[in-house]
Amino acid sequence: MCGIVGYTGPREAYPIILKGLKRLEYRGYDSSGVALLSNNKLKVYKKKGKVAELEDSVIGLDLQGTIGIGHTRWATHGEPSDRNAHPHQSQSGELAMIHNGIIENYTQIKKELESKGYHFKSDTDTEVLLNFIEDIKINNNCALEEALRIALKRVVGAYCILLISNDDPTTIIAARKGSPLVIGIGKGEHFLASDASPIIEYTKEVVYVNDYEIAIVKPDELILKNLGNEKQTPFITKLDMELAAIEKGGYDHFMLKEIHEQPNSIFDCLRGRLLPQSGQIMMGGIENNMDAFIHANRIVIVACGTSWHAGLIAEYLIEELCRIPVEVEYASEFRYRNPVIHKGDVIIAISQSGETADTLVALESAKEKGAFIFGVVNAVGSSIARLSNAGAYTHSGPEIGVASTKAFTGQLAVLMMMALKIGFAKKTIDEKRYLQLMRDLESVPEKIKEILANTKEIERIAEKYKDASDFLFLGRGYNFPVALEGALKLKEISYIHAEGYPAAEMKHGPIALVDEKLPVVFVATKDSYYQKIVSNVQEIKARKGKVIAVATIGDDIIPGMADDVMLVPDIDEVIAPLLSVVPLQLLSYYVGLYKGLDVDKPRNLAKSVTVE
Ligand code: AGP
Ligand code: GLU
Repeated sequence: MCGIVGYTGPREAYPIILKGLKRLEYRGYDSSGVALLSNNKLKVYKKKGKVAELEDSVIGLDLQGTIGIGHTRWATHGEPSDRNAHPHQSQSGELAMIHNGIIENYTQIKKELESKGYHFKSDTDTEVLLNFIEDIKINNNCALEEALRIALKRVVGAYCILLISNDDPTTIIAARKGSPLVIGIGKGEHFLASDASPIIEYTKEVVYVNDYEIAIVKPDELILKNLGNEKQTPFITKLDMELAAIEKGGYDHFMLKEIHEQPNSIFDCLRGRLLPQSGQIMMGGIENNMDAFIHANRIVIVACGTSWHAGLIAEYLIEELCRIPVEVEYASEFRYRNPVIHKGDVIIAISQSGETADTLVALESAKEKGAFIFGVVNAVGSSIARLSNAGAYTHSGPEIGVASTKAFTGQLAVLMMMALKIGFAKKTIDEKRYLQLMRDLESVPEKIKEILANTKEIERIAEKYKDASDFLFLGRGYNFPVALEGALKLKEISYIHAEGYPAAEMKHGPIALVDEKLPVVFVATKDSYYQKIVSNVQEIKARKGKVIAVATIGDDIIPGMADDVMLVPDIDEVIAPLLSVVPLQLLSYYVGLYKGLDVDKPRNLAKSVTVE
C-alpha cells in the first residue's frame, strides 16, 4: 500500500525518484509528491492523482538536487488532495517528511501542538508527527535524529518515514515500524524504498530495516540504530530478482502477464522440492519442524483476502491428507478477539506481500503466546517472512497487478506439497495416493498451458456478460473456496457485485436472487461432488438463471446444461483448484477490460494493506 522512495548520492535525485514512484504505482495510491534539496533549499511538489500528473505539473520547475524523497499516498487521514499529499513540510519550513502508515494517537498530539500555536495545512496524521518532531528538536535544542527518537517513543501506530532537513544537504533519516523499508547500497549512493522494485535497477545489495530501527543514510555511509540509540549491524542481503520480472514484457497489463506466467511460476515453486521419481518432497522448513506439525493439536491459518481463500483450500487439504484439525481465520478478526492459543499450536500465515498489517500483528501476538509460526510468503525478506519461525517461499516472482493471481496458485502449490509431506510422514495417506498426487501436482504447469492456449472463448463469455450487475459463484468441496476467489476477482477488477457460496448453501437464501438476468458461475469439475453439483445447476436452470460453468474436458453433462462453458483438463480433486481458478482469473480480467477499467490498479484498492 502506498510507497516511498529516497535517494542520496552524486546523481540528480528527481529522475530516480520519479521512476521509483512509477515502479511502486502497483501498490495502489491516490496522490504523489517529491521533495528535493539543493543549496540548502527544500522544494516540495505534490499532486492528487497519478504520478504522471505530478510529472506534468513540475515541467519547467526547479528539479535540481542530489538528495530527495518521493511518496505515493493511499489516504487514511484526510481526503486525497494536493494539500494532503506528501511530502509535508514542518511549520518552520526546515524539514520535509513522507510517511506510510497511520499515527493512531495523532489527535492528542495535534491538540498539544495547537495549544502551542502550531497550525496545520493538511488533515493528515503525518503533518502532526512532523511538527511534533520539529517541536521536540526546538525545545530540546537537539539533533534531528534525537528528536525523531524521542517522538517515536510516544507514537502509537505504524510508520515508515523518511525525513530530510535543509540544514543537512546529504542525509536522509528513516525509521520504520510496521511498514516496510529497504535500503539499496550503491557505490557512494543509497536508495530507499518500500520494496525492492525501485532499487533493483541500480544495485542488488540491500538491507531490510527492522521495526523500531532508525537509519541515518548518507551517500557513503549507512548507520542503523535502535530506538535506544545503540548501533545495529546492517545485514546485507543479495536481491534475487531481475528487472524484467517487474516489467510488462509485451503484455497489456501486469494482471494478464501474471496469469500467463503461472505455468512458469508454479514450475519454479515445485522445482527442486517435488520429486515424484524418488517419492520425495524437499521442504527444509517442514523437515526441520516435522515434530511440530505431526504433534500439532490443531493448525490455525491466518490470512486476508485471496490468501485467506488459499487458507480455506489448505483446510480441506490438511484435514483430508493429514487428519489435523484446521481453523482458518481472517487475520483482522483473529487479532482482536482474544483467541485461545496454546503453546504448541501451529499457525500458518499466508501472505503474498508479507507486509499485510493485520496478518503481521496477528502473528506477533500469537508468537508471544508461544505458537509456532510457519510463513507461506511470496516476498522474500518481508516482515512476515522474518517474523516466522520457519516457512516456505512461494517463488512466484514479483506480483505487480493489484489482483492476486500467480501468488494465489503459488500458495496453493506450497500448501499442497506441505499437506502431502506431512500426511505421508504421519502415515495418514498411503504411498500410492501420495505418489499419484505428486504426479498430478507435477502435471499442473502443462495443464495450465492448455487452459491458456484457449482464452478466446473466455474472452467471448466476458464480453457477453460484462453488463451484468451481479454475479453468483458456486462450488462444492475444494472448488468452494475457488468460487469465493472467482467472486473476489470479479469484484476487484470489474466493480460488479459478486458473491461466492457453497453450491448447496444456495438453497438457503441466495437462490432468491436468481432470475434470467443473473449469471451464475459454477465451478463444476469432475470430483466426488459432481452429481450433486449437476443437480444444483438444474435448480438454477429451472429458475431461468444463466449458467456459466467451469467444467472438465470430456464431461458431456454439464456442458450440455450450461449456457457457456470454460473447460479445464481433468485432474484429482485435491489439486483441481490450481486449474479451476485460472478461467475465473481470465474471466474477471476480460470483463474489466471490456468495461474499460484499469485492471492493474482498480479503484480504492492497494496491493498490500499495510494499515489496519
Ligand atoms: C487479492 O486480489 C487482493 N487484492 C487482496 O485480497 C490480498 O489478497 C490481501 O490483501 C492479502 O494480501 P497479502 O497476501 O499480501 O497478505
Ligand atoms: N496516514 C497518512 C496519510 O493519510 C499516510 C497514508 C499512507 O500510508 O500513504 O496521509
